[in-house]
Amino acid sequence: MSENYTTTQTGTPVGSDAHSLTAGENGVTALHDRYLVEKLAQFNRERIPERIVHAKGGGAFGTFVVTGNVSQYTKAAVFQPGTTTETVQRFSSVAGEQGSPDTWRDVRGFSVKFYTSEGNYDIVGNNTPVFFIRDGIKFPDFIHSQKRLPGSGLRDADMQWDFWTLSPESAHQVTYLMGDRGIPRSWRHMPGYGSHTYQWINAAGERFWVKYHFHAMQGNEEMHGAEAEAIAGADADYYRRDLYEAIERGEFPAWKVSVQVMPFEDAKTYRFNPFDLTKVWPHSDYPLIEVGVHTLNKNPENFFAQIEQAAFSPANTVPGIDISPDKMLMARVFSYPDAQRYRVGTNYNELPVNAPVAPVHNYSQDGAGRHGFKAATAPVYAPNSKGGPVADADRAGEGSWESDGALVRAAATLHAEDSDFGQAGTLYRDVYDAAAKERFLETITGAVGGVKSAEIRERAIQYWTNVDATLGAALRANLENGGTTPDESAEYVGVAG
Ligand code: HEM
Repeated sequence: MSENYTTTQTGTPVGSDAHSLTAGENGVTALHDRYLVEKLAQFNRERIPERIVHAKGGGAFGTFVVTGNVSQYTKAAVFQPGTTTETVQRFSSVAGEQGSPDTWRDVRGFSVKFYTSEGNYDIVGNNTPVFFIRDGIKFPDFIHSQKRLPGSGLRDADMQWDFWTLSPESAHQVTYLMGDRGIPRSWRHMPGYGSHTYQWINAAGERFWVKYHFHAMQGNEEMHGAEAEAIAGADADYYRRDLYEAIERGEFPAWKVSVQVMPFEDAKTYRFNPFDLTKVWPHSDYPLIEVGVHTLNKNPENFFAQIEQAAFSPANTVPGIDISPDKMLMARVFSYPDAQRYRVGTNYNELPVNAPVAPVHNYSQDGAGRHGFKAATAPVYAPNSKGGPVADADRAGEGSWESDGALVRAAATLHAEDSDFGQAGTLYRDVYDAAAKERFLETITGAVGGVKSAEIRERAIQYWTNVDATLGAALRANLENGGTTPDESAEYVGVAG
């Protein structure tokens, strides 16, 4: 008898994987065939809900090595000179569901979990440095407008442009999305950004505002719309395959990690609101400072266990790093762990891919799927006189900021150069070269061409006129002359969440 025999989930040897238990060879199936019942029931529960956004993705494990010296800005162990930290990274598209093609135009997610000696630190960003909205209360509406119509289940250009044109703060991000950045050549050939402003705290307790940048050492490469559409039809998993195969070949993709650092006091008077996620900080104001290199060098052994169940969250910070008064970031800090308790389960942080290498000491207990537990004699409440863990504010190294005023529902105070369209116009005029501008016009002509409502189309033309008057005029002319055929892929233009 072989020692490699099949069992039930509770270890009992089973009789057959080919035949159910029946009353005679041609008879009814017995409900007491425990193995058949267990096998079907377990199968029925193989799927967990897909992520509400960023459902399609892939990832790998890696290593982060500090090559610079930013110890004057943060005391976080993960960023101290010479430190090496194990990581897991997930890339994603945003709007599409699990099976959606990787090469549809969309913003791409860029999430890194650092398993640091002081707890897990997650940077959950995108391949663009800005976002469509600046207050988390708009996020569900934004995502609804970019996903599917409730009746037909179809994507809809009218919904998408209706939301964007009524939310002018989206212009900067939409200018990225409709530009070359909207379709990278692969996940290996795109940059990543923390996007938000975060807070760093040094050993002396001094505070700084920072923005993270990841630059692909393989270079940035993009794909033209027509090629992307052909690939979308032929190989929906193009990016996932590319990453997996590159790592299998030993071609490890790497990103140079840098930060922009703003002195704490500059925030009040800076020309842009530094906590507005629709804005970048020009490098001429705050140049990049080298931090380290992040390399992906190991494929998952099991996609579901290690990538699908991975739970990244901007709430996962470590001593010396904290959030900022960005209203989007504060909403996200609630949203991710909440989504993960629902999507993966209450004790999702006990799963190997999410568990920290740092020890976990606290008084949380029980809940569905609980795996770890403390000694029966360990105290279960705080404070206690039994020698249980004690919170330590010095060790926590939390940040802070001053805020005052009555509770209001209002936009943040404008800084001197804040405007919804200013930085979008600069991106279009000064960063895109002539060929990129041409591709951009072609893309927005196709996308706006997919809008059926004359009113929303007119608003879209006005939106691009506000970004750049010449661009708006060219778009109008194109649409009136039918210059570019409406792009069928318009309905697939994705979003970020
Ligand atoms: C208030 C605004 C936002 C809310 C409420 C929100 C919410 C969410 C939720 C609930 C998930 C699924 C989490 C999970 O099931 O594991 C998610 C995923 C994600 N979001 Fe957001 N999001 C927001 C804004 C953003 C922004 C601004 C960025 C980038 C700068 C971003 C990047 C991502 C990424 C990369 C993922 C996928 C994480 C992974 O790979 O597992 N989100 N978001």
